[in-house]
Amino acid sequence: MGQAQIGVYGLGTMGSALALNMAEHGFDVAVTNRETDWIAPFITEAGSLAARLHPHETLAGFVGGLRLPRVILFMIPSGAPMDAMLAEIMPHLSPGDIVIDGGNADFHDTRRRAAELAAMKLHFVGMGVSGGEAGARHGPSMMVGGSGQSWEHLRPILTAIAARYQGSACVAHLGPDGAGHFVKTVHNGIEYADMQVIAEIYSLLRTGAAMPPAEIAEILAEWNKGPLQSYLVEITADLLTYTDSDSGHPMVDVIKDAAGQKGTGRWTVIEALRLGQSASMIEAAVGARSWSSEKQTRQRAETVLGGALGAFDAKEEILAEAFLAARILCYAQGFRILVAASEEFRWALDFATIARIWRAGCIIRSALLDEIATAHQADLPEGQLILAPHFAKTLARCVPALRDVVGSAVRGGHPVPALSAGLAWYNTMRLGHGSANIIQAQRDLFGRHGFERLGQSGMHHGPWWK
Ligand code: 6PG
Repeated sequence: MGQAQIGVYGLGTMGSALALNMAEHGFDVAVTNRETDWIAPFITEAGSLAARLHPHETLAGFVGGLRLPRVILFMIPSGAPMDAMLAEIMPHLSPGDIVIDGGNADFHDTRRRAAELAAMKLHFVGMGVSGGEAGARHGPSMMVGGSGQSWEHLRPILTAIAARYQGSACVAHLGPDGAGHFVKTVHNGIEYADMQVIAEIYSLLRTGAAMPPAEIAEILAEWNKGPLQSYLVEITADLLTYTDSDSGHPMVDVIKDAAGQKGTGRWTVIEALRLGQSASMIEAAVGARSWSSEKQTRQRAETVLGGALGAFDAKEEILAEAFLAARILCYAQGFRILVAASEEFRWALDFATIARIWRAGCIIRSALLDEIATAHQADLPEGQLILAPHFAKTLARCVPALRDVVGSAVRGGHPVPALSAGLAWYNTMRLGHGSANIIQAQRDLFGRHGFERLGQSGMHHGPWWK
């Protein structure tokens, strides 16, 4: 039997950073990689930490180098490669062993794999890891799914390597099977929306107010000292200060305006819709990335449709208030999906804990998350953050600014899909009486679908059927 407390399979950016983080915290880590020629350079670069890292070139050697019950963390591409890997490693494992998928997996796959492995008395843990390379190396935020038994075993290692917010580790066991990966998916959905909101505000300043990137960097850096403080604002302020050495232009001005996506944002939207929700800001952000990649069409359309933009009168304080309102709305939509999923899959998610483990280490860490954790500790009607007294008050103060910004952006022809989606959701939710009576009447008239009447029970039909 081996001596390593955990094995890391996959020495890409995230896997190698996590292995080094574990070694630094005094754990013995068995490591391996499908392409075995990656292993030796990784050990060499590990320097003094190599003493805790135990390299293996074969799967049998890697598995044999682990203490019982074995704990194996896979940091490999999600989807088919994970299924192939499980099929390959299963014959080497024994009951009680714990297999962790630390990638951005589709939580449906995680649920299926957890059931398949449970039938063989193995624990399958779907774990969301956020924070990019620096986070993995020095303290990520980790969202853990799986059995309570596996969590008890993993807790010491994960707690040691996690990011810390005022001393408390940013890792928690969130629920069984796919809970961890689902929460990570929604984390990424919020990440998409927050990034899109920042991009829209940047664009209003850059193209609407003709402000140079360096000046916008100063505004963002200033905002980052207050309630808008967040990792994404911080890095955006930073990246705006760089100059391209080839052209001498601001770096952001030479980067193609076409953004890629790996799928977690899209999954969030799909799951939201499946759960009868609409995370419209996340949807707007996913859609905006898709539109961005239609660069050629947009260039052609500009000549056909005209791309003139009105000037945008950017008052910094108004923009800051609009941004804060949008950020609250985007988190509120994300948490609403978590509430719906928790009910649907009987996960009993603890929303305050989720907000707490997002306060450090992860990409969406921000000043707002501590307030969100507090709001979720109180009894929140339908899990709606917009109804928490603290946020309702902030929204009442900031939404007029969001209206101003969206209004003048729209008048000037500036695209602000996420900001306007957030505002439309807020405007809808604050009205006890909406416009769906017309939808109901239409459905009944064309298809005899029936409708409910105000103040009466049962289904009714309109006079158009008499
Ligand atoms: C994180 C990130 C990370 C994700 C990237 C890229 O929490 O560390 O969410 O997991 O892979 O943000 O995602 P997209 O390629 O989909 O933008």
